[in-house]
Amino acid sequence: MSCVLETTRLQLRPCQIEDIQLLYTLWTNDRVRYFLFDNRVISVDEARSHVEDSLANFERHGYGVWLIFERSIDLVIGFAGFLPSEEGTPSLIYGVHPDRWGCGYATEAASAVLIYALEKLALPKVRADVDEPNIASVRVLEKSGMRRRGRAVVNGHPLLYFEKSRSPDPES
Ligand SMILES: CC(C)(COP(=O)(O)OP(=O)(O)OC[C@H]1O[C@@H](n2cnc3c(N)ncnc32)[C@H](O)[C@@H]1OP(=O)(O)O)[C@@H](O)C(=O)NCCC(=O)NCCS
Repeated sequence: MSCVLETTRLQLRPCQIEDIQLLYTLWTNDRVRYFLFDNRVISVDEARSHVEDSLANFERHGYGVWLIFERSIDLVIGFAGFLPSEEGTPSLIYGVHPDRWGCGYATEAASAVLIYALEKLALPKVRADVDEPNIASVRVLEKSGMRRRGRAVVNGHPLLYFEKSRSPDPES
């Protein structure tokens, strides 16, 4: 099964070891890291560990982290994918370089990886946890067809929980 995904404007391909520096730069950008890593500046070693985990996850589960390329100029503009969870439902993550915010790219990429997970991998369900103040990300989840399932305050941070199931949602 090909893990390279194509949309109208984007190509997504699984991140590789040689992408560590690029992802490190993106993940430590002050506007990208704010909600993604609770504003923490991660180390290169931590970035490497995330990329290695992604490679292992593609081998084991068929999903991981994809780089997002803007096809017209063959430029990396972000990442999207899934993290495995202990209870088995993968968790959606994504980020786009601030230069490209507001163009609909995160929604286009999120939709592509959701279709891949739910239709190609035939996973029953995926989830996403989002910081409530991360309005753009909440909007991306809504536009990608995910449904809000709950809210909790964890360590003082309000979080919203979203899900999307493979089978048609009886409530929709
Ligand atoms: C969240 C993020 C991925 C959105 O990327 P993007 O490519 O700009 O997203 P899109 O253009 O597809 O959609 C953004 C939506 O949020 C809306 N939005 C953005 N900021 C907003 C704000 N302050 N108030 C209300 N709506 C807002 C946009 O108008 C758009 O909705 P619309 O199409 O209905 O107008 C980007 O901001 C990002 O990379 N943030 C840092 C990483 C992160 O927080 N990731 C999520 C946690 S894993």
